[in-house]
Amino acid sequence: MVTAELHAIARKMVARNKGILAADESNATMSKRLDSINVASTPESRRQWRQLLFQTQGIGDFISGVIMYDETIRQSDDSGKRFVELLAMSDILSGIKVDKSTHDLAGAPGEFITEGLDGIRDRLADYYSMGARFAKWRALLTVGDGRPSDYAIHTNAHALGRYAILCQEQGLVPIVEPEILMDGVHNIDDCLLATKRSLTVVFEELVAQSVDLSGIVLKPNMVISGSDASNRASSTEVARQTIDCLLETVPAEVPGVAFLSGGQGDEESVVNLDEINKIANSERIPWELTYSYGRGLQAAPLAKWLGKNENVLAGQVAFQRRGLDSSAAREGVFT
Ligand code: 13P
Repeated sequence: MVTAELHAIARKMVARNKGILAADESNATMSKRLDSINVASTPESRRQWRQLLFQTQGIGDFISGVIMYDETIRQSDDSGKRFVELLAMSDILSGIKVDKSTHDLAGAPGEFITEGLDGIRDRLADYYSMGARFAKWRALLTVGDGRPSDYAIHTNAHALGRYAILCQEQGLVPIVEPEILMDGVHNIDDCLLATKRSLTVVFEELVAQSVDLSGIVLKPNMVISGSDASNRASSTEVARQTIDCLLETVPAEVPGVAFLSGGQGDEESVVNLDEINKIANSERIPWELTYSYGRGLQAAPLAKWLGKNENVLAGQVAFQRRGLDSSAAREGVFT
């Protein structure tokens, strides 16, 4: 792969005013989302939901790339147009989740390892031929009772490095996602320490495994209080701690950081991103700072849709609202 092309794809993923739509829920996760609105989860209902999102008027104004699941990247809209082609008409890049989910990490109760490296080179080549230009791998670390352990941090970072260099070999930009899970009662300082430890080792591994840092997108958590913490930190504190943590750990060559929403409330995910970009607008920050939200973009439209044809437009309007708010926050001009 020509390096310049990888760099151009990575920059396009984090283009001004736009962010990434994480619509790559596995069938198991999507089934939970559909259960919550009493819709049976089938390949067809999942296709209809993704079609609603991808056919939203003006989606290209606030989305640069869509991450899909294996089932979705093979699907088409009602007229038979492949989703990859439908998205390309709005100048949106197609991406693909290539990990095979998180599993218990042997020898470390309460910790996880992401699987999916076996056979990944051939799968990446297949996805490239289907039109994918970027990929995602999510590592998951938990906080509390001495977690995350060095062992979990290192094994997950090593896997992220192996995935990332294989992506670049096959012409795909890797989204490198080491997520510190927000679930729990931990405070923002615990999240800061875990994020700093993890990102330090992740970049050591990426460098050791010859990953071109100008051809990746980092997808981290924000530095934030646990969802059940008492006295959760304010958005200004979240923004300050997040920026300071990234400045200490993320090399300047990385073109962009696209945050996950991680179960933040709708308002919270927008206001926090807005505060982060307000700092970026007034200080010298080397990377673009945007969103790669799943629930943050989809929860509101899903609740409008309810699986009914007559609600498609209402769902699309809600998606547009979430997208435009996130886009404003990505520029630091939401409030
Ligand atoms: P959330 O924004 O819902 O955390 O999902 C983003 C994602 O892709 C997690 O891997």
